[in-house]
Amino acid sequence: MKVLAINGSSRKDGNTAIVLNTILSELESVGIETELIQLYDKKVNPCKACFTCGGKNNCTFNDDNFNEIFDKMKEADGIILGSPTYSANISSRMQALLERCSVVADMNPGIFTRKVGASVVVGRRGGLLNAIDTLNHFFLNHEMFIVGSSYWNIAYGKLIGDVKADEEGIQTMKKLGKNINFLLEKIKKN
Ligand SMILES: Cc1cc2nc3c(=O)[nH]c(=O)nc-3n(C[C@H](O)[C@H](O)[C@H](O)COP(=O)(O)O)c2cc1C
Repeated sequence: MKVLAINGSSRKDGNTAIVLNTILSELESVGIETELIQLYDKKVNPCKACFTCGGKNNCTFNDDNFNEIFDKMKEADGIILGSPTYSANISSRMQALLERCSVVADMNPGIFTRKVGASVVVGRRGGLLNAIDTLNHFFLNHEMFIVGSSYWNIAYGKLIGDVKADEEGIQTMKKLGKNINFLLEKIKKN
């Protein structure tokens, strides 16, 4: 079992990374292999809308980091998408990745079918739920099962490390990790 987490922040090891690592620690504690990809130093160009990716299972253009990230998403049993709230939505880095993923998956049906997905968002004050909705739209459009927690999967913070003081947010992430493991185990048995 492998879970891949993707951090859409422009900051390395910021608040989004902290909440993602909180979830990944829960998963590692029960023996699940994990990996965190941080997009801050990755190049993911916007989709060119050429629709030539059918039958390729990857993007036609291999001039950035998209295909290597997409390969890891295809291999994973579970995918956690994490984004800071930017302008009341997800980061443009995450948006560019999801636009490319969506077109390749639409042109090559079944790539994400019945994988487990979870969205997490951090922010200073407003727009977090809108960002969560945007991330969940990706999962819902690709036959994935979305995992929730005891509150929406959000945590509050502005400066790097602030989210650690959001006790409810951190507890929400720990519970989310447990719930992701629960669903992965159920799916594995079938
Ligand atoms: C360009 C930009 C736009 C932002 N827009 C919002 C916003 O609309 N709502 C909000 O609550 N926080 C907003 N923030 C604050 C970040 O969401 C917050 O600092 C978050 O903790 C950053 O996560 P990170 O440390 O993983 O980068 C914005 C930050 C930046 C850099």
